[in-house]
Amino acid sequence: MKDFDGKIAFITGGASGLGLGLAKVLTEAGCKVVIVDIRQDHLDEALAYFRGKNAAVHGIKLDITDRAAYAAAADEVERVFGGPPQLLFNNAGVNTFGPTEKSTYEDWDWLMGVLLGGVINGMQTFVPRMIAAGQGGYIVNTSSMGGFQGSDAAAIYCAAKAAVNNLSESYNKSLKKYGIGVSVCCPANIRSNIAEATLTRPEHLKNTGYVVNDDSINSLRRIHSAGMEPTELAGHIKQGIEDEQLYIIPYPEEKEGLERHFKEIVDSVLPMEADPEGARHRTEALRAWAAERRQMVETANEGAKA
Ligand code: NAI
Repeated sequence: MKDFDGKIAFITGGASGLGLGLAKVLTEAGCKVVIVDIRQDHLDEALAYFRGKNAAVHGIKLDITDRAAYAAAADEVERVFGGPPQLLFNNAGVNTFGPTEKSTYEDWDWLMGVLLGGVINGMQTFVPRMIAAGQGGYIVNTSSMGGFQGSDAAAIYCAAKAAVNNLSESYNKSLKKYGIGVSVCCPANIRSNIAEATLTRPEHLKNTGYVVNDDSINSLRRIHSAGMEPTELAGHIKQGIEDEQLYIIPYPEEKEGLERHFKEIVDSVLPMEADPEGARHRTEALRAWAAERRQMVETANEGAKA
């Protein structure tokens, strides 16, 4: 997608950090922007920033884990801007860190609920509306470098982001036929407020196995103060949309580590010479199955048309 002028953009976590950076870059490109966020104070500050700037920005307080509220927010967008968004940014996120083996169910449920569940809810709410509107569009999911490999202190965060990477690849393939592009952005470090994420942790999921206190929050603040400026990252994301790049990773310092990790995976595949007959047999079986599936889908589609 190259033309942003007049497009409606829906940004989760749009009132802070990368989401706010996206809102700034997209309003400058002529988009009408909806920012949704769980934090009213972030929304108030963000909306105050845009006031008087000749930007069409609408704010909605939304917890992206609440499916009914999400559907109501989508209806509100249609009422306010006249249709569903052409641009969707599943960006809101939280984090909390601690030893994998100390994780509680509540740690799993909170992080998975926001980081993965929030993206799923965004897709389930908007993809059917975007397809029905028939205008094409673009979706960017915010993942993380953590989505490429596990970590001893961020197991849940990494598992959720790995799922976001993977589902983005699937949607990228599935939505092409509707003219809807899908990218996934994997940042390494952003200058944002994510150090405060535990402030939005719901009461019923408060039981954590990790150490969370002022010191842990301040140490996160220090790390993120060295992160990339949100508007700079948002500019890379806009460019990634224009270039229809599946992965958007504007962090050159990460390349070597990624190469090492993927080489380790590729090197662990048994070489072809070790079992050529077995490999040929299995490949033929998979191809035959794929052809059979294609035929089944075509027959079902023809049946639906008739
Ligand atoms: P941020 O904390 O500045 O912004 C995230 C916003 O999401 C906040 O305003 C927060 O209130 C909102 N939010 C949290 N839970 C929500 C919920 N349930 N419903 C609606 N809104 C909710 O953080 P940042 O860094 O801009 O985060 C954006 C994305 O970038 C997240 O997905 C995060 O995981 C990802 N990321 C961040 C990195 C970093 O270094 N900060 C690195 C890699 C990925």
